[in-house]
Amino acid sequence: MAGIGSSGRDGFTSKFGIIAAAAGSAVGLGNIWRFPYVAGDNGGGAFLLFYLLFIVVIGVPVMLSEFTIGRRAQANPFGAFMKLKRGKPFVLVGIMGIVAAFFILAFYSTVAGWTLEYVYLSVSDAFNGKSGGEISEMFNGFYTSTWGPLSWQLIFMILTAFIVFAGVQKGIEKYTKILMPMLLVIILVLCVSSVSLGENVDPETGKVIGSSWDGLKFLFYPDFSKINAEAILAALGQAFFSLSIGMGVLITYGSYIGKDNNLTSTAVQVSFADTLVAVLAGVAIFPAVYHFGMSPEAGPGLVFKVLPNIFQAMPGGYIFAILFFLLLTIAALTSSISVLEVVVASMVEELKMKRVPATVIAASAITVFGVLCTMAFGELSSFKIFGKNLFDLFEFTASNIFLPLGGLLIVIYLGWFMGKKEVLAEISNEGTIKARLFGVILFIVRFIAPVAIAFVFLNGLGVFGFEATGG
Ligand code: TRP
Repeated sequence: MAGIGSSGRDGFTSKFGIIAAAAGSAVGLGNIWRFPYVAGDNGGGAFLLFYLLFIVVIGVPVMLSEFTIGRRAQANPFGAFMKLKRGKPFVLVGIMGIVAAFFILAFYSTVAGWTLEYVYLSVSDAFNGKSGGEISEMFNGFYTSTWGPLSWQLIFMILTAFIVFAGVQKGIEKYTKILMPMLLVIILVLCVSSVSLGENVDPETGKVIGSSWDGLKFLFYPDFSKINAEAILAALGQAFFSLSIGMGVLITYGSYIGKDNNLTSTAVQVSFADTLVAVLAGVAIFPAVYHFGMSPEAGPGLVFKVLPNIFQAMPGGYIFAILFFLLLTIAALTSSISVLEVVVASMVEELKMKRVPATVIAASAITVFGVLCTMAFGELSSFKIFGKNLFDLFEFTASNIFLPLGGLLIVIYLGWFMGKKEVLAEISNEGTIKARLFGVILFIVRFIAPVAIAFVFLNGLGVFGFEATGG
């Protein structure tokens, strides 16, 4: 059967299946919820520029390295480094990956719970006739409460666990192929609606409240006075988070990819699709933010406060809102299953557990962390470590510390320890396809990517002590 890995492990059946599953992992809340809010917090255009730069010089190489390692070893991140020559010390990637998976899924399920609430609110037409201020207050009232957010989070975790039981092929491939293109279409419609909002003039005073053009300017015009070392680290963290790299998700997925797939082009295509969705989400959000006179620095609530306003202003907004939040939840699911899959695959293959109990145990343990993240905005909001509540702390440590460190180890392994011949054999499908850019790829993986990650990482944590003050 085409696409089944040589060792007979569960595999992806078609070329589109692989891309759909990897893109399904990459495209999620990271693009639509996180990208706009992190870009908004870090100055917009200049942040976007660093983000795009990091996708090209770091993201694609790390993604290709993960695919290569996973398919070579036919194993989860732990097993992979145990099996591969000179890989043992790199098992650290697997260990950090599990910790990162816990942190990521904890806050991810909180936000996915919010999206579920927004599916419900859209269906019940709750935004109808509400002012921008009232819509913001609706979000504030909801996410600081206890039982609503917790119930949705639990539902989301159960859905995630349920899909992971079903196994790779049936669980992942079937849904992503149709639904992700649909989501893309809706986002395009939102972009058009948001940009065409135009200028917003107060009918009573005649004063201009804001214009959608200023939103485009915010997103695309790089104002370097707004950038500093921390913002650059945030761009790196966002690139890693959005591409699902640095914690071994794509090592695990690589092990399911057929031997005849061109890994280099898969990595390029997935990265391109993911980046496109993020930038389009920005185009959908920021013009509306400016039109309605809101602040781009609204933090994690940004899209939930902005989008209902666009839906209200557009024809057919009721239906679009429902479809959008539903598809966003599904996009979140195809990402969350990939995170849980790493933990489960590691437990099944390394601890010889059965798939179902492994899934139940992993999902339950993660839910405990998830509950803490959700409550970080309510009951536990005064509980802070390093000035961050638990949600922010998990989000920061996972994206800006664990993922870049994992990515650093991954490129160092591929570039310096795996052996050039072995890397070439895997990337060229044992010599059956030409790896024309191999020299360039190897150079980036050996030198550019590790140096760039290390520099941005240490600089962002203030190690060099010349943190720019940023205008
Ligand atoms: N990339 C996903 C998103 O943008 C989230 C995600 C899935 C992820 N798997 C991951 C992030 C692995 C980091 C590592 O929504």
